[in-house]
Amino acid sequence: MIKACVIGWPISHSRSPIIHGYWLQKHGIEGAYTREPVEPERLAAFLGSLVQNGYAGCNVTLPHKETTFGLVKPADEATRLLGAVNTVYVRDGAILGTNTDGEGFINSLKAGAPELEIKGSRAIVLGAGGAALAIVNALLTNGAAEIVVINRSAGKSSALCERFGARVTSADWSLRSELLDDCDLLVNTTSLGMKGQPELDIDLHRLDSKAVVTDIVYTPLRTALLNDAARRGNRVVEGLGMLLHQAVRGFELWFGTRPSVTTELHDLVARDIDPEYGK
Ligand code: ATR
Repeated sequence: MIKACVIGWPISHSRSPIIHGYWLQKHGIEGAYTREPVEPERLAAFLGSLVQNGYAGCNVTLPHKETTFGLVKPADEATRLLGAVNTVYVRDGAILGTNTDGEGFINSLKAGAPELEIKGSRAIVLGAGGAALAIVNALLTNGAAEIVVINRSAGKSSALCERFGARVTSADWSLRSELLDDCDLLVNTTSLGMKGQPELDIDLHRLDSKAVVTDIVYTPLRTALLNDAARRGNRVVEGLGMLLHQAVRGFELWFGTRPSVTTELHDLVARDIDPEYGK
């Protein structure tokens, strides 16, 4: 029996057990994936006894992503740059950590907007937190020509830009509607539009009809930003896609089979988020 889990504090909201549980069943693998509440003071001990407790690895969510980075061996360059880990696995007795948010974002975009050519594109990224960092890095790796990071706190967006070259610039939050001309991709990485949070106030009238709009928020499944963009005829990619696609590599690392993000899986998680989905 191969075991994995997701750790966080709190952890009750995590949908990862639904995703991995679906894949375990689909592939007929004798395994388990559970939610484990781990208080910050217990994180180092939990990771240190991962193998003794029979785990092949775990997912890491709030508030442990950065602390975990300091407690495991970064598995790759991108993880080192991000300074945050969302997937932990064991290889040859060592505890390794990687970050699959970037590939989750890109693969979700490829699945949801196959016509978008990331190479050579101009993207606008709203927000400058950990998710924005992973997304900017992934877009650059995939050949984006220009990325403008727009954040409420200007200090955070300029600090993010300084980590990259001239292809990434920052702009003032008040300019978010004005700068949408010539944009191929608009990404919201802020928490605005999330259930219980204020709406994202942005005017899309300058946005080209061919631009793709995506949101990392997935509660609700369709944010006001996505509804607004879809009404204008823009292609939209929902945030749930990133959640599903970021889970793929962890499952492959722990259970040895690369799973697929199917419509059936999408609908299963969508119904958990919104019981009215598909009705
Ligand atoms: P994550 O690591 O998941 O990206 P985060 O670091 O908390 O989360 O980032 C949240 C993002 O949402 C930030 O860019 C934040 O802007 P600030 O850097 O100015 O805090 C943005 N955000 C949250 N509430 C906001 C609001 N009311 N208006 C504008 N931006 C907001």
